[in-house]
Amino acid sequence: MVFYFSGTGNSRYIAQQLSEQLSDELVSMNRLMRQRKLDPYTAQYAFTSEDPFVVVCPTYCWHVPKVVEEFLLDSRFLGSREMYFLLTCGSGTGQAKAHAKEICRELSMEFMGLTSILMPENYITLFRAPEADEAVGIIRASKPQVENIAQQILIHHTVKDSYSGPAMPALLYRLFYKLFVTDKKFRVKDNCIGCSACAKLCPMANIRMQDRKPVWQGSCTQCQACIAVCPVDAIEYGRRAKGKRRYYLFADGRQKFPKEARQ
Ligand SMILES: Cc1cc2nc3c(=O)[nH]c(=O)nc-3n(C[C@H](O)[C@H](O)[C@H](O)COP(=O)(O)O)c2cc1C
Repeated sequence: MVFYFSGTGNSRYIAQQLSEQLSDELVSMNRLMRQRKLDPYTAQYAFTSEDPFVVVCPTYCWHVPKVVEEFLLDSRFLGSREMYFLLTCGSGTGQAKAHAKEICRELSMEFMGLTSILMPENYITLFRAPEADEAVGIIRASKPQVENIAQQILIHHTVKDSYSGPAMPALLYRLFYKLFVTDKKFRVKDNCIGCSACAKLCPMANIRMQDRKPVWQGSCTQCQACIAVCPVDAIEYGRRAKGKRRYYLFADGRQKFPKEARQ
């Protein structure tokens, strides 16, 4: 069973391919997280599979995203005891392996390893996304890697990361969430067309439309979905994303080109 969480489409794209290669079910954590936010009385999720559980998600601050950790720890996994992690990243996964191992320990699952695939950087409220052509090359290079990882999973082999990058002190990790994982700086410009694409996509159900404009509600995970998907680039984050290219990968592998959408 292949689970994915994805802000701007990279992890969804990889998870879709993986589930095809494994001929296994694909489960959207985005949809389930959103459902739970909208209805807090949703019962605890339980998943049953005789095949390994595979978690596909982005790397956040060299860790598994907190929302993914919370989702997993709040779910029950029945049948197979094997759990794999496949993280997409812009440069490296740092301590994500140790983090994923700890999650498996808490779930009493067998940790089958963490591996990663380099995908276009999406974190535009801090860094920059690559230009479209460069992104196409990066996305293309992911295909053989997914095939290779699928082969390992099919024979129940452990997987590992070829490069994980530097480790991060626990204090910095806590500071990152405190200082950067907030929606306080999101704002909408006058060119907003009120289409509510941002509100519909937010996996945290953190955006309400008021007078046809998005209003952030304070439980953001900085996944970049809202700022990236807007068809007219009407969302800013203070001045941090000003003039930067918005990166969003649709399920069919197309990137968003907002300028075209405007014409
Ligand atoms: C809040 C945030 C933190 C990130 N931290 C890292 C990181 O520590 N290392 C890294 O290589 N990429 C990092 N990235 C980049 C994403 O992991 C990468 O672009 C990923 O493929 C995005 O996947 P998605 O489109 O499925 O959301 C970060 C992105 C965001 C939004």
